[in-house]
Amino acid sequence: AGSRPLAGKRVLVTAGGTMERLDPVRYITNDSSGKMGFAIAEAARDQGADVTLVCARTDGPPPAGLRLVKAESAEEMLEAVMVRLPETDAVVKAAAVADYRPAVRHESKMKKGASERLTLELVRNPDILQAIGEWRRQGSAAAVRGPFVVGFAAETNDVERNAVEKLSRKGCDLIVANDVSQEGAGFGTDTNAVQVYGAEGLVEALPLQSKRAVAERLWAIVRERAGWNGPQ
Ligand code: PMT
Repeated sequence: AGSRPLAGKRVLVTAGGTMERLDPVRYITNDSSGKMGFAIAEAARDQGADVTLVCARTDGPPPAGLRLVKAESAEEMLEAVMVRLPETDAVVKAAAVADYRPAVRHESKMKKGASERLTLELVRNPDILQAIGEWRRQGSAAAVRGPFVVGFAAETNDVERNAVEKLSRKGCDLIVANDVSQEGAGFGTDTNAVQVYGAEGLVEALPLQSKRAVAERLWAIVRERAGWNGPQ
């Protein structure tokens, strides 16, 4: 494998924050810049993988040298991810997906009403990570098929407990816990500090370093856990 240890592997990475439209010019989104997902996609590309980047709203342009799929909302991202699962060896879900979207998407720009107050009704979005987990378990309760799945968990409190709970509920192989209240970590920064958990507990804590360095380490852990480092 040499310097291209992911050669022959097809990976799918999600990045950015989803945009949930209210009308043609207004939407709900979050602070994700896409940098973490970009770094993961770039690291995989440089290790020889065939990379598909499913990209929501991001601050900068996506990296070159990979397949780019635009997905504005959570629903579009769900579709873009699910149709590609059968041809994917690993999925990394670094995108910040909105948990809710406006119940009504207006066809034309909403008019200002007479009232001083406006209440927006929101409805729950599909959980993409959970849908992947369910897809993998289809057919047999015991056998897990399909790609190796890495989720993220953006947390501000009880980081470990919440991350491990998300891992089991969403049925992924690894979860990257991101304490976004920590200085230099999380949304918008060029650096990050994370803890990687597997079903058995903490796998590795990655102290504050560039998002690219976090991404390199993450792929090393994935290769090892997915059994991709074997003799070739
Ligand atoms: O983009 P940056 O500015 O570089 O910031 C990076 C980051 C903070 C966005 C990133 O490191 C991160 O933590 N991403 C996950 C953010 C998030 O949505 O966390 P969550 O705990 O709400 O969701 C947990 C997991 O479920 C995530 O993998 C998420 O993609 C997924 N999810 C969530 C909701 C939903 N409806 N569908 C999902 O698939």
